Parts: sequence; C-alpha cells; structure tokens
Amino acid sequence: MAKKPRTKQQVVKEYAAAFPASANLTLAKHIYKENPNLFSTIEAARSAVRHVRGNHGKQSRDRALPELMKKNGKAGEYKIPKSLVPKKRIVRIPDGKTLLLSDIHLPFHDVEAVECALNHCKDPTNIILNGDTVDFYATSRWESDPNHRDLAGELQASRQFLMHLRERFPKANIYFKIGNHEERWEKFLWRKAPELCGVPDFKMEKLLRFEDLDIQEIGGRQLTKAGGLWILHGHEFFNTFDPVNFARTLQVKTGVSTIAGHKHKTSQHSVKSMDNNTIACWSVGCLCDLEPDYMPVNQWNLGFAEITHKGKKFEVNNYRIIDGEAYR
Ligand SMILES: [Fe+2]
Repeated sequence: MAKKPRTKQQVVKEYAAAFPASANLTLAKHIYKENPNLFSTIEAARSAVRHVRGNHGKQSRDRALPELMKKNGKAGEYKIPKSLVPKKRIVRIPDGKTLLLSDIHLPFHDVEAVECALNHCKDPTNIILNGDTVDFYATSRWESDPNHRDLAGELQASRQFLMHLRERFPKANIYFKIGNHEERWEKFLWRKAPELCGVPDFKMEKLLRFEDLDIQEIGGRQLTKAGGLWILHGHEFFNTFDPVNFARTLQVKTGVSTIAGHKHKTSQHSVKSMDNNTIACWSVGCLCDLEPDYMPVNQWNLGFAEITHKGKKFEVNNYRIIDGEAYR
C-alpha cells in the first residue's frame, strides 16, 4: 500500500520541533526549500509556521502545542549543560619541614616504628598522615576474621593516636589523607547503609574528630604538593600489580617528581630528561605489622620520609626503620 503523503501541518510541526529557536521566516525558507511541492511560496510556508507556533492570532495561540511554540531565546539558548564534575583543588603544604607517615593501619600499627618516626622529626612544620592511617578492617569487603571486626575499637585506637599526635606536636599543621583503606568506610556505607551517606555524623571528619584536633582532611582523589613535589597515597591511579620498584612506576605514571606510600616498600627512582630536568620519585615504607594474617609473606618494610621544601625546591630523606632505628 502506498504511503500516505504527509500533510503541510505535519511537516511544519516536525520542523518546529527540530528548530525551536529559529525565527519564523528562517524556518519557512528552510521548509520551502526542502519541500517545494508542499508550499507554493515562502510566504505560504511562513503562514503555516505561524499557525503551528501560535503566532497567528488568538485562535492559533490557544491551539498551539507548547513544545512547538517558538522559544524566545536567541541563537545560543541551548548552552552546554553544567558539568557535574566538582572543581578540583590542589592542597599546598606550607614551606618548611614535613614529616610524612604512610600506611600506619591502626590498630594494626607497629608501635616501635611509629615511635621511631615521631622521635626522628623534632619540630615539623607539617605532618602528613598519607593514607591508610586507619585500617577499617571491620568494613572491608574482603573476608575477614570476625574476631578482629571491631569498628568501635578501631575508631577508638585511631582517635587516641590522633589525640597523641596533636598533643605531641601542638604547632604542626596535620593533614589526614584518605587512602584506599579509609575509602572502605565510604564504600561500606554505599553498600550497607546508603541512607547514611549524606549524614554529617557519619563522615570521616566527624568519626575521627578532625575539627576538635585541628586536622585537615585531604580527599582520596585530591592531589597534594609540597614545594615542587607531588604527594599521593598511591591508590589514585589504577595499579593492581606489585612492581619491583614502585618509585619507577610513579615516575612512569605521573611524569613528575612524586612521593607515595601504598605499596609498603621503600624505593627511589630518578630520570633526567633531554632538557636537563630531573624527575625523582620515592615510595615510602609503612608503619604497620609486617606479617598480617592475610599476607604473612611479603616484601614490605617499615619506613617514613622527611621532606624539606621551600618554593619549588625540595629535599627528600626517605628512611627505612630497622630494629627501631631509622636508616637512609
Ligand atoms: Fe596500606
């Protein structure tokens, strides 16, 4: 059966829906050009457009479908929509001496190693708890020993450590970076209690009393800089494998001088570019139990770092801790 030809009104409605911001005359010219058999003149097409858009007296206005009426905006009415991506802010650590402690994994920390790191740096301007400070064992999605699933105990030990740190270094700027273990908390809420996600009382800053202790939180995906040195926890980019030299992986992945924890191993790597720029990267040892039940055999080592920085210049001393003593 032959297809029924479209009526003038159907054609004009299609054009009006497709070009809502076009002027009536412009639209009429367009319709006339593409449908010469339907309209004898541009003016005839224009009249039909005005009818459809409700610009042909009161009757047409009353009958016109709102979605076909001409939009008042000029060209450009349809702007690029607002992006949902939040503005990213780099945390810049004030010049001075920065003590960087990574992967403490409270309450599975190594007391002697933590004591060694805190003793080493007498008067730091800044202390960065560079991720995985709290283990959040109880909220892990991995199978875990129910005897150790004690969220209240983990939080209590973590608050006690932070209070100790503030008491011991009353003048230092203290930063708390969200590592992959702290992210366990947020992901736990997503899975088990999404209704609590927006509730302030369940945010990390409240759980660990950051405001009372004057501690600044650094987001899990937020970048940090001390002088010209970028600071990551190490989970920010996709890395599931265990590289021989994590500092080299950092150099390849970031292309800038970077220091990170996450792999619980001390390493260093540097390259010189053709224009004589040196890119140096470091990975820092951990301050937790080196033989956890879930991975009793590993190549981890205890350690911490001290960064001295001013302007874009910086110097890194990356220490290993052996038998309670710090070695470079
Ligand atoms: Fe860790």
